[in-house]
Amino acid sequence: MVLYFSGTGNSRFAAQQLAGLVDDELVSINRHLRQRILDPYNAQYAFESDRPFVIVCPTYCWNIPRVVETFLKESRFLGSRRMYFVLTCGSGTGKAAEHAREVCREISMDFCGLASVRMPENFITLFRAPEADEAVGIIRAAMPQLEVIGNQILSDRTITDSYAGPAMPFFVYRFFYRLFVHDKRFYVKENCIGCAACAKLCPLVNITMEDGHPVWNGRCTQCQSCIAVCPVDAIEFGHRTRKKRRYYLFADGRQKFPRESRSETEPPSGDDSDVKKM
Ligand SMILES: Cc1cc2nc3c(=O)[nH]c(=O)nc-3n(C[C@H](O)[C@H](O)[C@H](O)COP(=O)(O)O)c2cc1C
Repeated sequence: MVLYFSGTGNSRFAAQQLAGLVDDELVSINRHLRQRILDPYNAQYAFESDRPFVIVCPTYCWNIPRVVETFLKESRFLGSRRMYFVLTCGSGTGKAAEHAREVCREISMDFCGLASVRMPENFITLFRAPEADEAVGIIRAAMPQLEVIGNQILSDRTITDSYAGPAMPFFVYRFFYRLFVHDKRFYVKENCIGCAACAKLCPLVNITMEDGHPVWNGRCTQCQSCIAVCPVDAIEFGHRTRKKRRYYLFADGRQKFPRESRSETEPPSGDDSDVKKM
């Protein structure tokens, strides 16, 4: 079973490729997170498969995102005891493998390794996303890597991390969450069309629509989905995101293109299966 968490589509794309390669079921963690918040009593907490569990997610601060760690700890995995991690990253994954091993130990799963795949940088509240052409090149280069990982999983081999890079001390992770992982600086400009794509897509149901505009409610994991998916680029994070390209990869592999070349008449449907019409 391939389970993915994704803010801007990179990890969903990697998970889609892997699920195809290993011919296994694809499950959206985003969807389950939303369900656990909206309807906790009817949400699904147990996942069963006799094939290995493959967790696909972005790298956050050289580590697995806290939201994914919490999801894993609050879930039960039945059948296979084997768990793989595949992290998409902008540059490096640091200590992620060590952390994932520790999480597996806590949830009594057998850690079968962590592999990373470089995908376009999405963290625009701090950095810059690559231009569309460069992003296409990065995604193309990721394909053969995903194939190798898929084959390793199929043959029950341990996978290893190619973008581990320098290991950050764990306190950096805590510091990062305290300093950068919040929604205090998100605001919406006058060009907001009230389509609510941001609210419908947010994996933590952190955005409510008030007077036709989004309001952030303090439960943000900085996944960048809201700012990236907005069809009219009306969302900003303080001054840091002004004039920066928004990066979003749709489920069909298309990127979000610059605003000038898009139609603004058809707002996106805003669920994580996709936001098609941009
Ligand atoms: C909050 C945050 C922290 C990030 N930290 C890292 C990092 O430490 N190392 C890295 O290589 N990329 C980092 N990135 C970039 C993402 O891991 C990368 O773009 C990923 O492919 C995004 O996946 P997604 O589209 O599935 O959300 C970070 C992105 C975000 C939003």
